[in-house]
Amino acid sequence: MAKHTVTLIPGDGIGPEITHAMTRVVEAAGVDIEWERVDAGAEVMDRYGTPLPDHVLESIRRNKVAIKGPITTPVGTGFRSVNVALRKELDLYACLRPSFTIPGTGARYDDVDLVIVRENTEDLYAGIEFEEGSEGAKRLIELIAADGAGTIRPDSGISVKPISVSATQRIVRFAFDYAIANGRKKVTAVHKANIMKHTDGLFLRVAREVAEEYAGSGIEFEDYIVDATCMQLVLHPEQWDVLVLPNLYGDIVSDLAAGLIGGLGIAPGANIGDECAVFEPVHGSAPKYAGKDMANPTAEILSAVLMLKHIGEREAAERVLAAVRTVLAEDVRVTYDIMRTRTGSTEGCVGTQAYADAIIEAMA
Ligand code: NAI
Repeated sequence: MAKHTVTLIPGDGIGPEITHAMTRVVEAAGVDIEWERVDAGAEVMDRYGTPLPDHVLESIRRNKVAIKGPITTPVGTGFRSVNVALRKELDLYACLRPSFTIPGTGARYDDVDLVIVRENTEDLYAGIEFEEGSEGAKRLIELIAADGAGTIRPDSGISVKPISVSATQRIVRFAFDYAIANGRKKVTAVHKANIMKHTDGLFLRVAREVAEEYAGSGIEFEDYIVDATCMQLVLHPEQWDVLVLPNLYGDIVSDLAAGLIGGLGIAPGANIGDECAVFEPVHGSAPKYAGKDMANPTAEILSAVLMLKHIGEREAAERVLAAVRTVLAEDVRVTYDIMRTRTGSTEGCVGTQAYADAIIEAMA
C-alpha cells in the first residue's frame, strides 16, 4: 500500500496539463503517493447534476489532503465557484499563499519573502447577494432606511459583507501559529477599519486582542490600511513578512504579491482547515492556453511542495524546490511566460512537459 493517498482534482483549462507535470515531478522525487483522481467542475454537471459531486468531498474528507488544478467558473450558468464551495464545505478557513523570489524568473525584485494568510470563509466572498430590483433587495433597502442606517438607491444590487469575531480569531491565530512554526518575525493585519468600522473595524479589534495572546511569542504585530499596503508592497516588498487579511483583500493582494515574484505562473497556495487541506495554485484555468502544452506548471509544482511538507515529506519537498530553483536559475528550458519576463521575448521557450522534464533531470 502506498504511504500516502492524496485526492487529485486535475480541474479544467490548463489544469490537466499542469497537474500531470506536477505528479511526474512529485513521483520523480521518490515519494510513495497514490493519487485518488476525482473530477469537479462544469464537465461533470451532466453526469452528476452538480459541479461538486459528493464523492469528491468524501474523497478529500477520507484522505485529509488534496491537490487540485484550477477549475473554471462559467459566467452566467447559475452555479457558484466550485473552488469557493470546496473551501466552504470543508471549512478550509485559512488560505496560505507564500510569495518568495526565485532567481531566474525575471521578476522585478530579488528579495521578496512574504506570506499571505487570507480568511477563506466570509467577507464579500460569502456570496450573499441581492439582485437589483429583486424582492430581497427592496426589503433590505426598506429595512436599512427604516433603521436610519442610510439610503440606498432603489436601482442598486447589494452584496453583503459579514466579518465575525470567531472567524477573525481563528485566522489571526492561524497567522501567528504559522509565524511561530516557520521562524517568521512579524504579523501584519491588513484592513480598511477607518471606513468600515463594523466589519474591518471588528477585524482589527479582534486581531489586536489575538496579538495580545501572543505577546510573549516574540512575533511582532502591526496593522496597515489595505491601500497603503498595496503601495508599500510595490515600493518595499522586502519589508513584509506574514500578512493576515479578510477574504477579498486577501484575494487581491495575493495577485499583487504574485506579480512581485514574476507572475501567476509561479505563485502557489494552500487552503487549510482543522480537518483537511487542499493545495492549489493562485492562478485560474487560463482557458486560452488550454491543451496547448504552454502553461507554466511552477505554481502547481510549488503547491505540491507545500503539500509534501504538510504530509511530513520535508526532504522530498526540499528536493523538488531545489530542482525548480536550479532550472529557473540555470536552464534555458523554461515556459513562455518566464522566457518573456527574462528576455522580453518568448523565443526559445519550451512547453509544460519539457519544463517538467528539466526539473526531473535536475533531481537526478
Ligand atoms: P487566470 O489566472 O486563469 O489567467 C489570467 C492570466 O494569467 C492568463 O491570461 C494567463 O496569461 C496567465 N496565467 C495564469 N496561469 C498561468 C500559468 N500557469 N502559466 C502561464 N500563464 C498563466 O485568471 P482568469 O482569466 O481571471 O480566470 C480564468 C478562469 O479560472 C475563471 O473561470 C476563474 O473563475 C477561474 N479561476 C479558478 C481558480 C481556482 O481554481 N482556484 C482561481 C482563479 C480563477
